[in-house]
Amino acid sequence: MMSSSPPERPNSPVFAPGALGPLALRNRIVKCGTNEGMARKGLVTERLVDWHRAFAEGGVAMTTLAYCAVSPEGRTFRDQVWMRKEASPGLADFAEAIHRAGARASIQLGHAGWFANPRATREKPLGPSRQFSMHAQAFSRAMTAADFGRLEHAFADAARLAVQCGFDAIEVHLGHGYLLSQFLSPYNNRRRDEYGGSLENRARFPRRVLAAVREAIGRDVALYPKLNMDDGFDGGLTLEEGVQVARWLEQDGTVDAIQLTGGHTTRTPMYLLRGDVPLRDMIADERDPIRRLGLRVFAPRMLKPYAFQEAFFLPQALEFRRAVRLPLMLLGGVTRLETMEHALEAGFDFVAVGRPLIHDPDWVRKLAAGETTSSPCTHCNRCIVEMERGGTRCVLDDPVATA
Ligand SMILES: Cc1cc2nc3c(=O)[nH]c(=O)nc-3n(C[C@H](O)[C@H](O)[C@H](O)COP(=O)(O)O)c2cc1C
Repeated sequence: MMSSSPPERPNSPVFAPGALGPLALRNRIVKCGTNEGMARKGLVTERLVDWHRAFAEGGVAMTTLAYCAVSPEGRTFRDQVWMRKEASPGLADFAEAIHRAGARASIQLGHAGWFANPRATREKPLGPSRQFSMHAQAFSRAMTAADFGRLEHAFADAARLAVQCGFDAIEVHLGHGYLLSQFLSPYNNRRRDEYGGSLENRARFPRRVLAAVREAIGRDVALYPKLNMDDGFDGGLTLEEGVQVARWLEQDGTVDAIQLTGGHTTRTPMYLLRGDVPLRDMIADERDPIRRLGLRVFAPRMLKPYAFQEAFFLPQALEFRRAVRLPLMLLGGVTRLETMEHALEAGFDFVAVGRPLIHDPDWVRKLAAGETTSSPCTHCNRCIVEMERGGTRCVLDDPVATA
C-alpha cells in the first residue's frame, strides 16, 4: 500500500549541512534580517525572541536579528535595539532560544548614518558628507577623524557584546544605503580626503570596520557583510564597483562569506524588495499631517516600483560568483525550492529568505517534508507597514487586513 504521507527530500542539497566560516549550518536556508518592530526601549523583548524561535523551530539553519544599531545616534526607530550592556540579558535569551531549537543566531549590526531619524535620536545625523536627507528631514554632519575612531570601536564593541551573549554570526550592514554603504556610494560620499573620491578610498572605512570587528570577535564566530552589489540608480554604486569591493574583501581575509543585496533605502527602496508599493497603508499610518502630505506628493516618485521576479538579484549575484571564491548567500525573491537548488548548482553556498518566512515560519520544514514547493507570498509588501503598526507580520491570511 502506498504511504499517504508526503515524500521527504533528504536528497535535496538544500537540506545538506553547509559551512559558514567556523560554523556548521544544518541546511542552506538563512532567515535574513527583516526589521521586526518588536523591540522596546532599545531592548530585545520576549515577543521578539518568540518570533525568531518560530523560524528556528520551523527549520531555518540560522535566523538574523534585524538591524541593531551600534550606537544610539545610528537608529531609525526610537525603540530599535541598540547595542549596550543593558541589552545583554535580552540578547542572551535570544541566542539561547535559537540554539535550543537547533539553529544558529546571527545579528545584523548597522548604523543609519545620513538618514538616522533625529526624532528618535535627538541628534543631528552624521554621514560621509554634509547632505540633506528627506527621510531625516535634516542635514547630516560630515564625519570627523574622531567620528571614524568612535564608530569603528562602536562596531567592534557591538560585535563583541553579541558574541558574549552567545551569537554565532555577525552580519555587518554594508547595504541599502546605511552608513557603510553611504561610504561606498558616490551619491552620499562626496569627501575629498582618503575616505572619498576613488572607490578604493570610499571602501576604506567599511574595510576598516570589518577588520576591527574581526579583531574583536576572533575566528570562532562567523562574520559576513550584507553588501550592496549596486545601488540601483545612476550616480550610486555600480555593479562593477560592487564586484571590486567584494574582491577586496576576499583579499582582506576578514569575512567568511558575503550576503548579496542591492538598493538604497532613500532612493530605490523598492529595488531591494520588488513587488507592490504599500503606499495606501503608508499614507493611512502617517499621523503627522505635514509628513502625510509629503508622502502623498513625493512618495509616488520616491517609491518607484520594480516588478517582482523570482530570484531578482541572480543576474548581478552571478557576476560576484564569477569574481570571488568566498562563500556567497543569494538573497532576494527566493520563493521556490527549485530556485534554491539552482542557486546551489550555480555555486552559491546559502540562500537568504525574508518574506516567505514572514508568511510562514514553518516553510523550511514544509519544504523539507515535501508538503510544499513554493511560497504563496504575493510581495504585497504590507508586512513592512505592519512593522510600525506593532510588529512585522504577514497580512495575507488576515480577512480584516485584506478586506
Ligand atoms: C518587513 C521587512 C523588513 C526588513 N528589514 C530589513 C532590515 O532590518 N535590514 C535589512 O538589511 N533588510 C531588511 N529588509 C530586506 C530583507 O532583508 C531582504 O533583503 C528583502 O526582503 C528581499 O528578500 P525576500 O525577497 O526574501 O523578502 C526587510 C524586508 C522586509 C520585508
